[in-house]
Amino acid sequence: MTAGGGPRVRLLICEDSDDDALLIATHLRRGGMEVDYERAERAEHVVEALNQRTPDLVISDFHMPGFGADQALELLRESGYDLPFILVSGRIGEEEAATLMRAGAHDFVLKDRMTRLVPVIRRELDQAQQRREHRGMQQKLRQAERLDSLGRLAGGIAHDFNNLLAVILGRTDLELADMPEDDPHREGLTVIRTLAERGADLTRHLLVFSRQEPLHPETLNANDVVADTERVLHGAIGEDIEFTTRLAEELWPVRIDRSELERLLLNLVANSRRAMPHGGQLQIGTANVPGETAMVRISVEDTGGGMSDEVKGRAFEPFFTTDAAAGTGLGLSTAYGVVKAAGGDIGLFSRPGGGTIVRIDLPARLSPAEAGRPADPSAEPGGGQRVLVVEDDDAVRDLVGMMMRRGGYRPVCLPDPGSALDLIRTGDGHRFDALVTDMVMAGMTGLELARAARGRYPELPVLIMSGYTAGTLPDGTSLPDGMALIRKPFTKDALLNAVARVLKTAHAS
Ligand SMILES: Nc1ncnc2c1ncn2[C@@H]1O[C@H](COP(=O)(O)OP(=O)(O)OP(=O)(O)O)[C@@H](O)[C@H]1O
Ligand SMILES: [Mg+2]
Repeated sequence: MTAGGGPRVRLLICEDSDDDALLIATHLRRGGMEVDYERAERAEHVVEALNQRTPDLVISDFHMPGFGADQALELLRESGYDLPFILVSGRIGEEEAATLMRAGAHDFVLKDRMTRLVPVIRRELDQAQQRREHRGMQQKLRQAERLDSLGRLAGGIAHDFNNLLAVILGRTDLELADMPEDDPHREGLTVIRTLAERGADLTRHLLVFSRQEPLHPETLNANDVVADTERVLHGAIGEDIEFTTRLAEELWPVRIDRSELERLLLNLVANSRRAMPHGGQLQIGTANVPGETAMVRISVEDTGGGMSDEVKGRAFEPFFTTDAAAGTGLGLSTAYGVVKAAGGDIGLFSRPGGGTIVRIDLPARLSPAEAGRPADPSAEPGGGQRVLVVEDDDAVRDLVGMMMRRGGYRPVCLPDPGSALDLIRTGDGHRFDALVTDMVMAGMTGLELARAARGRYPELPVLIMSGYTAGTLPDGTSLPDGMALIRKPFTKDALLNAVARVLKTAHAS
């Protein structure tokens, strides 16, 4: 909304003459400003223009038949908008001008000194912008302080409740353990136990909000978490809602508690879905935001009913909900705690009927050298390479995935060679930098899978996990270049070293 060059400036001109209003606009355009204007000469027009099409600036003649600048100024004050108000008049006494300035007019320009008008408008628009930014910051600060003190209160309550709940849970467990299977009290105790568990879950959310719950941050790629969320929600979201993702390529890594981030996204999606009872669009996007502090932005955007200022102002408070029947009002407050704990920021952009954007900014985890450019998959091992992990044992697969993520890779984990091959063959938007696979699996060995994979990606670095001695195959033959074996069980460091080695030999050949 700055004057000149940028966007158009929208003026409300209080003026009884069409010609004079046009004259002002023409003058501004000659001065290099892009302006749209509307003219009003009666109170009701002014009120309507202010409230429905809120202009950037009000220019007013001093005296019109049945209306005056003092009234226009009064109406502006009542509207609550902080807009520059500039008098432009052919005849105004110093006394009158001074009175209007005291009442809040920002400046006055005489019609025979119109060259002043453009610089005055530019200055006033700039200052109005600064006032808005200042107010925005003050508001954020006040909100942060309020949420902080709420956090301390909630944290204290949650601690006491946790102790109570621990005893309730412990005692019911003991009672249940000692009770015969057919005891008539069993059912009642089981209900108590279930509810106590729910209570414990609620207090855990409160502790996250008050940042007293220890979180488990790991370095991860938010795209992977969003993709997981999308997979989980596929089908659960309802056909009348169009759910899409817009993921940045080579997204910078962030450090945050993975399961909390998942939960957070699920809650945001649930909120959006509830705001769109008659359908609409929902998009999760990610982006790198370079700057003094490089940030990774995750945004969840819906075309739902939006929020009033009052709801928006309270949405992060624990237990604030507009859905008394189904909501507990802990979703956004927990999100606030998780994001703050990760050193980030979360904000709501919404207005009634205009949809909602929830924007999360998390500090990017970059070495200073990386800050300027996205991770390069062929650079150093652990530089964000995509690695396909194939392993049929759930626990081992999860473990390998975790180790790889810790090491700075982006693993895609699959439970069987068949679906791995499908993914390799169709591509599905993925390009893999390495394959880490179990040796003995149903249907196909890891070696067979590796050979098939190399049909599409020749020289694909491969690490095979097996119970056999590293280096040689069961039948004694050695492995092709860029393939290696690692013996189970292995430590994280052994795995990461082995992956780094196959990546290096593959790139050297
Ligand atoms: N996308 C959205 N569109 C409109 N209003 C929203 C949106 N997201 C949140 N809100 C408002 O903010 C309130 C608080 O959200 P929050 O997720 O904290 O709690 P909840 O969804 O009501 O309950 P819970 O998440 O515990 O089930 C909601 O009740 C709703 O009024
Ligand atoms: Mg919610």
